[in-house]
Amino acid sequence: MVIEPRMRGFICLTSHPKGCEKNVINQIEYIKSKGSIDGPKNVLVIGASTGFGLASRITSAFGSNASTIGVFFEKPPQEGKTASPGWYNSVAFQEQAKKAGLYAKSINGDAFSDEIKNKTIALIKADLGKIDLVIYSLASPVRVHPVTGVTHRSILKPIGNTYTNKTVDFHTGIVSTISIDPCSEEEINNTVAVMGGEDWEMWMDALVKADALSNDAMTVAYSYIGPSLTEAVYRKGTIGKAKDHLEATAFKISDKLKSLNAKAYVSVNKALVTQASSAIPVIPLYISLLYKTMKEKGIHEGCIEQIQRLFKERLYTGNPIPTDDKGRIRIDDWEMREDVQSKIAETWLLAETETLPEIGDLQGYKADFLNLFGFGFPGINYEEDVNENLEMEGLQ
Ligand code: NAI
Repeated sequence: MVIEPRMRGFICLTSHPKGCEKNVINQIEYIKSKGSIDGPKNVLVIGASTGFGLASRITSAFGSNASTIGVFFEKPPQEGKTASPGWYNSVAFQEQAKKAGLYAKSINGDAFSDEIKNKTIALIKADLGKIDLVIYSLASPVRVHPVTGVTHRSILKPIGNTYTNKTVDFHTGIVSTISIDPCSEEEINNTVAVMGGEDWEMWMDALVKADALSNDAMTVAYSYIGPSLTEAVYRKGTIGKAKDHLEATAFKISDKLKSLNAKAYVSVNKALVTQASSAIPVIPLYISLLYKTMKEKGIHEGCIEQIQRLFKERLYTGNPIPTDDKGRIRIDDWEMREDVQSKIAETWLLAETETLPEIGDLQGYKADFLNLFGFGFPGINYEEDVNENLEMEGLQ
């Protein structure tokens, strides 16, 4: 079929298999161009099909020759209906790994469930024996708790007071003011249940119990802090509570892993256009100003550049891993630079529908958003008939 982007709100209902493949190949080429990393050999990536998780899988495999098992929750294609982009990304990753002679297998299902944990661990035991790096990179709006059966839904709201600020509809470029009412206690608890650290801890407990972790293994989950501009809706809002919980869980997991000399870390990453971040009010406006500033300064990075730097300059340097005073790895260091943030604070005040095309990088935002779904890549003929019904090599 001929596949065109069909936008609905902050999501795109279609995705392009050839474009997703291009996206994966570009990331692989980038990693190869940066030279090898003396990194992990057997890697489990939970949330491996898009965003930071996909970049982590690519960096492990093509930077460090690692065998990878990827877990994700994606919609397979049906005749006449495209798959979700993470499906096509994973099809492409599997193909490229096979060509390169790298072990890669994938599991599509709900990572919060016992069933998928058991399936993944059985695969590790059968094929790899033990894992030396576990990346935890889930971003989900919902979690069915495996013990209670309760469905928790995460929500993005401020705590305590109504938050009013500017935002942009990145499709139309219209800047407007939004107000978000504060959350209830129950909404905080639900968001922590979905995006906090409980499931990460459950994964690590299950891996330890099955004796599927190597000595000196590492596990890394991803977090975000950001500037005071977005604090009320992000770091001091419901999602921030979940990130506080995730960060506290790293210490809990490290305690449990002591006998293996293994450790859990949280890496604080840069704000980037992904399916998860596009859904957060205010953040798209912040990102478009951030992109403009960081591109002007020559320090802009996407997911793959971030994760390459995380592996090469933080996790696998041969030296102790540098952390901040709260024990977190910081790869958001360039985003948080004083000169970057003061420029954004200045442009934020000026940001209006008329000024944004000049002072922000709305085009860059839109381009990245389209790229997430495999659209807008040069060299791809989007008028061409393509097979949407792709099967995935290595799918378990
Ligand atoms: P994303 O939406 O690109 O990727 C989410 C991944 O989780 C996908 O592989 C998806 O298939 C998987 N997933 C979702 N629900 C699942 C389930 N129930 N079972 C199995 N897999 C499931 O998200 P992104 O942005 O890469 O986020 C990953 C982590 O990085 C999150 O913790 C996020 O908070 C964090 N982060 C994101 C930043 C951003 O600006 N995008 C900045 C800093 C941290």
